[in-house]
Amino acid sequence: MAKVMIMDHPLIQHKLTFLRDEKTASREFRSLVSEIAMLMCYEATRDLPLKEVETKTPLCTAKTKVLAGKKLAFVPILRAGLGMVDGVLSLVPSARVGHIGLYRDHDTLMPVEYYCKLPADIEKREVIVLDPMLATGGSAIDAITQIKTRNPQCIKFMCIIAAPEGLEALQKAHPDVDIYVGALDDCLNDVGYIMPGLGDAGDRIFGTK
Ligand code: PRP
Ligand code: URA
Repeated sequence: MAKVMIMDHPLIQHKLTFLRDEKTASREFRSLVSEIAMLMCYEATRDLPLKEVETKTPLCTAKTKVLAGKKLAFVPILRAGLGMVDGVLSLVPSARVGHIGLYRDHDTLMPVEYYCKLPADIEKREVIVLDPMLATGGSAIDAITQIKTRNPQCIKFMCIIAAPEGLEALQKAHPDVDIYVGALDDCLNDVGYIMPGLGDAGDRIFGTK
């Protein structure tokens, strides 16, 4: 079974409090999503392989490290995953970005696919899938199933808030995928929202409600 990492960094916990606050408006909400994504990306990239190179400093030649061969691709799940892209690209500006469009049917809560565009060389890359919310897990499971058909080197999933139900479902469906979670909340309510959660992430990022 792959690992699940729940973030305990004080900066992430602090920013999450303001993200959850119903009084936080879209402009600040967007900044917070981006900042939390950047901090989480720091953890999710901790195991990237390094190789040794020789670097000439103004004083001498030194053996130093750079990232080895494996390259990254970020894949946000539209819409809300888009809010995490700036933050992760600020840490890894050379990464490629793919997009998967999915929304939850309001009645069935099942994901409905409407878009998929992934980097052409995705099979040479490690993929980090981005979505702020893991609720039932249906959207993440579906997105990862689509990405797996393109045989990337490996897949990680990063979400800001997860429900226990979604986490369990994702682990069961994709036991090979490492999962990075900003906060593990209590449960889903009877219409599939994470409690206490933060409401509808897409609507709060884009100000559509
Ligand atoms: C939200 C969220 C996830 C999904 C999580 O998207 O961004 O993609 O719900 O729910 P699940 O784990 O039960 O699948 P939504 O369907 O609201 O679409 P949107 O981002 O376009 O608003
Ligand atoms: N999607 C959201 O945006 N919020 C939830 O709580 C659940 C799904």
